[in-house]
Amino acid sequence: MDNTLARANGRPVTRWRPRVALASVVVGLSVAATTLAVASGAAAGTTLGASAAEKGRYFGAAVAANKLSDATYVGILNREFNSVTPENEMKIDATEPQQGQFTFANADRIVNHARANGMQVRGHTLAWHSQQPGWMQNMSGSALRQAMLNHVTQVATYYRGKIHSWDVVNEAFADGGSGARRDSNLQRTGNDWIEAAFRAARAADPGAKLCYNDYNTDDWSHAKTQAVYAMVRDFKQRGVPIDCVGLQSHFNAASPVPGNYQTTLQGFADLGVDVQITELDIEGSGQPQADNYGRVVRACLAVARCTGITVWGIRDTDSWRASGTPLLFDGNGNKKPAYSATLDALNSGGTTPPPTTAPPSTPPPTTPPPSGGCAATVSLNSWNGGFVATVRVTAGSTAIDGWAVAVTLPGGATVTNTWNARGSGISGAVTFRNVEYNGRLSAGTTTEFGFQGTGVGPTGTPTCTPS
Ligand code: XIL
Repeated sequence: MDNTLARANGRPVTRWRPRVALASVVVGLSVAATTLAVASGAAAGTTLGASAAEKGRYFGAAVAANKLSDATYVGILNREFNSVTPENEMKIDATEPQQGQFTFANADRIVNHARANGMQVRGHTLAWHSQQPGWMQNMSGSALRQAMLNHVTQVATYYRGKIHSWDVVNEAFADGGSGARRDSNLQRTGNDWIEAAFRAARAADPGAKLCYNDYNTDDWSHAKTQAVYAMVRDFKQRGVPIDCVGLQSHFNAASPVPGNYQTTLQGFADLGVDVQITELDIEGSGQPQADNYGRVVRACLAVARCTGITVWGIRDTDSWRASGTPLLFDGNGNKKPAYSATLDALNSGGTTPPPTTAPPSTPPPTTPPPSGGCAATVSLNSWNGGFVATVRVTAGSTAIDGWAVAVTLPGGATVTNTWNARGSGISGAVTFRNVEYNGRLSAGTTTEFGFQGTGVGPTGTPTCTPS
């Protein structure tokens, strides 16, 4: 996959390091780095994206696929932004409208537009109590847990290598002073549903940064903020794969930019995660609104690990809260005072660049595949009652035209779902064979397939036979 994207017009160049192949050994260890650089001769600081890139950050917008035919909209998007978040198109109801039937056409339009124009993509969102399709709303218990994990796995696998950051779980905490989890069908599957989702996402796309995203988590003194902080701290301590915290940052008179906003950003960052402002909008107009945007941007730039800002729409009329005119461009696409304040803050704000993360390294397989043969290794993401297995198939010193991988499942385990391979049988001894597009492997190269199941996953080394 070509991860090097360049803009033809001499404006910022976004480089994505090539993702390494998914390998069991890298799961949970590291994430791919993304660096933003300014092309020589670029007109520095004249657009939001260019100015943010100078500070090693991105500046993004939520985008709706059905507006990509609006010339004014696309003109602003391509000129100003170097990251996009699909506003609704990657949500569960959009990507899995019927159970097991995935639709990516609208999300793909946004991803393709982004890649063609050198923009990063934030994936939003894999697991959420809201905007669930009807079939999921009606589910509960272990069936829902399985369906949720399958959704995470399938969607993150489909977009593997194309997503800078995933909002793996969205809005899982309750408002108010309780500091409790939000009640939802997902929460009722067990308190570990969030970490299970993160583990499944890491297994599916080891190169994406994995974020927990929420709103009303901007004020450091609020119970909800502290509850999310405690969860992230616990995840870091126990090795649950999490790389970032997203603060939606929807502000208005009832929920203003808190005085301790920078403290909050720094507090999360001090846990060893990136912080991203993911859905910024600030209701208001004129200079007061402009001042608030400036404060938010300066707070981010002052925190080394605040790596990017996304506004939740482009023009006021595109906003989900259009009556509050909360964005940077008016309905005609003209820059508002809030735009100028944002750009000024980007240009004059702190210079602390976010640290770059070392790219993952892929250790060689422990036993090299035999000449003319193949080898397979399996990595498991298990939880109480189920698992996702990711299998790497590597050709030996000569090419092979096809492969069959045999695994043994312990008693009671059942395969419920397979991707990138065809399985024979669902329990006991199961053999997975290549599909049309991944059978031929040149010498030493690798492909992957996966399967999900109930019960305990396979133990022992799978056998690989060329065919
Ligand atoms: C909103 C979209 O902007 C609307 O178009 C849709 O009708 C509802 O969802 N928090 C989130 C976003 O995480 O997904 C929400 O987006 C806004 C609040």
